Amino acid sequence: MAPLRYARTPIEIESPEELGYDSISYNLAESSFADQRLSDYGIDTDVGDLLLQYGDHLGLPRLRELIAAESAETGGSDPNGIGPDQVTVTSGAAPALFIVATALLGPGDHALIQAPNYATNLETPRMLGADLEHVEIRYEDGWELDVDRLASQIRPETKLISITYPHNPTGAMIDAETLERIVGLVDDHPTARLLLDETYRSLAPEPLPLAASLSERDRALSISSMSKTYGLPGLRMGWIINRDPELAETLLAAKEQILICGSTADEEMAARVLEAKDRILPPIRAKIDEHLGIVRGWLAADDVRDVFEWVEPRAGVVGIPRLRDPDAIDIDRFYKTLLENHGTYVGPGHWFDQPRSSFRLGFGWPTTDELHKGLAGLLAAAADAAK
Ligand SMILES: Cc1ncc(COP(=O)(O)O)c(C=O)c1O
Repeated sequence: MAPLRYARTPIEIESPEELGYDSISYNLAESSFADQRLSDYGIDTDVGDLLLQYGDHLGLPRLRELIAAESAETGGSDPNGIGPDQVTVTSGAAPALFIVATALLGPGDHALIQAPNYATNLETPRMLGADLEHVEIRYEDGWELDVDRLASQIRPETKLISITYPHNPTGAMIDAETLERIVGLVDDHPTARLLLDETYRSLAPEPLPLAASLSERDRALSISSMSKTYGLPGLRMGWIINRDPELAETLLAAKEQILICGSTADEEMAARVLEAKDRILPPIRAKIDEHLGIVRGWLAADDVRDVFEWVEPRAGVVGIPRLRDPDAIDIDRFYKTLLENHGTYVGPGHWFDQPRSSFRLGFGWPTTDELHKGLAGLLAAAADAAK
């Protein structure tokens, strides 16, 4: 096999952390709740007595129990739910996606992947030489997933169907019945598996059941992490949930080859956060609701509505507004003046293979004041860049 052709993606190269957080005053480019310290959540940070041994290869058992318990919250259709041994802890959702893609796909394997999407979901199958077909969602359709079209795209030899909900970068959402229908499609298929990227799951007003808990043939996988919901991407803590024992062995082998096990200290911290979840989540949800309302109000103003439009996000912390009349604006100048003169950063459309006249706007990360100023910057930059 030829060496894998790793290529950096624009979203990573141009990410705020690579650009330098100090060069951005109003950061509307992030796809998570605001970055936090453990002390912000009142979490005991003392790990001085923790033995820094190689940990359990699947992940700290207490942490896996907390993750598995999430299946009971929304009642997956399977009464047995998810057990802690069906959870593989990884250092973030990104490596989880990588492990699953490399475990399931080889050159020429047919994979149906939602587009647009978080870059790794598309990039790893592409790099592996899979026969990648997009499950496209479009602004014109309100970013709705057309499940009939998805069903018609499935071939006898399809290996993977990969979708993300709540969706990044659009904030689109599906309901539990739709998810059950999609799980049914893979359960009726000889080779296909479903990967649901659930990284934003707990930020939904009504979280979906864990996809892995719904599959009668154990053909669905759930991937998530601590990064987005809790604003703790620096913990590098994520997981794969899978009930197929044969695949579980492969996933563990992949993890052992890459990492052996996770960071003992990070896993302990993640467990402490999840133990306090019922206390931590409500204020996060409240801030996100308030900020979505601010963006909604901004877009309702006449002068803003003349320039920008969006399909309002239904869940999560991002949406993807666009310029109503892209021909009236010099797009390169718009992004340049937005950052240089108005201190505001957003995720330009090319991060997601979308037109650059659209951009991802993250409303969960900035403070309320920063959000207001960043939104004002967007309108000012569009005026600066008018042709
Ligand atoms: C949908 C989605 N999945 C996975 C990730 C990876 O996040 P992490 O590796 O920090 O968990 C991201 C990050 O932006 C994302 O948006």
